[in-house]
Amino acid sequence: MSGSSATRICELRDSASLCEWREKLPGSARVGFVPTMGALHEGHGSLVAEALKKCDFVLVSIFVNPLQFDEIHDLEAYPRTETEDCQLLQTWGAHGVYLPTASDMYPEGDIQQEQAGPVGEILEGAFRHGHFSGMLTVVRRLFERVKPQEAFFGQKDAQQLFLVRAMSERLKMGIEVQSCSTVRESDGLAMSSRNRRLLPGDREKAGTIFQALTAAQKAVLLGEGNPSVLEEGICSALFQGGLEVEYAKVVAEKTFLAPDPDSEVRAVVAVRIGDIRLIDNMLLGVLP
Ligand code: PAF
Repeated sequence: MSGSSATRICELRDSASLCEWREKLPGSARVGFVPTMGALHEGHGSLVAEALKKCDFVLVSIFVNPLQFDEIHDLEAYPRTETEDCQLLQTWGAHGVYLPTASDMYPEGDIQQEQAGPVGEILEGAFRHGHFSGMLTVVRRLFERVKPQEAFFGQKDAQQLFLVRAMSERLKMGIEVQSCSTVRESDGLAMSSRNRRLLPGDREKAGTIFQALTAAQKAVLLGEGNPSVLEEGICSALFQGGLEVEYAKVVAEKTFLAPDPDSEVRAVVAVRIGDIRLIDNMLLGVLP
């Protein structure tokens, strides 16, 4: 098997075929894993490209995980584009795609969910109740089934990445969790499967998120070291851009909690445009 687009990607529709595929790989093979919920875009493409650089075989999963949605409307409206997704994965050179059903993923009636801990209750966790324990539950299951050496996550979901790393280390899963740069549109909007649902006027407004974050980064460079001042600046830029702010916080990069002086910080934001929620974040540097 090779990563060339001439080789047909293996479509694995249940855990038994995934297990069979995994067992056939040479024992020495390095397997890179990219978990997704489908509706693939260039952001996912960059994760696959990174995985292909580092690993011998790349497996992508596509599963819209019901456990991590707290709003039924959001789960139902989540774009499902399986045929296009498989074509893209074929073009990008992935070796396998795992497309489980909900009953393959969760065969038991009573699902024992992962605990996300205190960082799982703040920011995204405070606005999307149960989101992170649902996300960690599926990621743990996927890690245990795929048994990758490396897994690739985008920095756009920085809190998710933080929690997945923490879980993988706590459970000593022996998986290198790689953090990959956010891929952005030409106006800086972070690529997301949700962007395709934005109406044209709202799409324009969404560009403000990047402007607000880069302004905060510049403010730190120019000597602003007060997290509250930075947060107020981000909020007012988002508000002026016509966006409804759910949160705009500056957190310590190492802990995701309130920063101490001199710590490296990340600004994290969530906004709503109509019924669409967008999140983004940016490393601001070390507080002066
Ligand atoms: O980031 C996502 O797309 C999802 O949260 C993930 C990691 C695939 C788990 O469902």
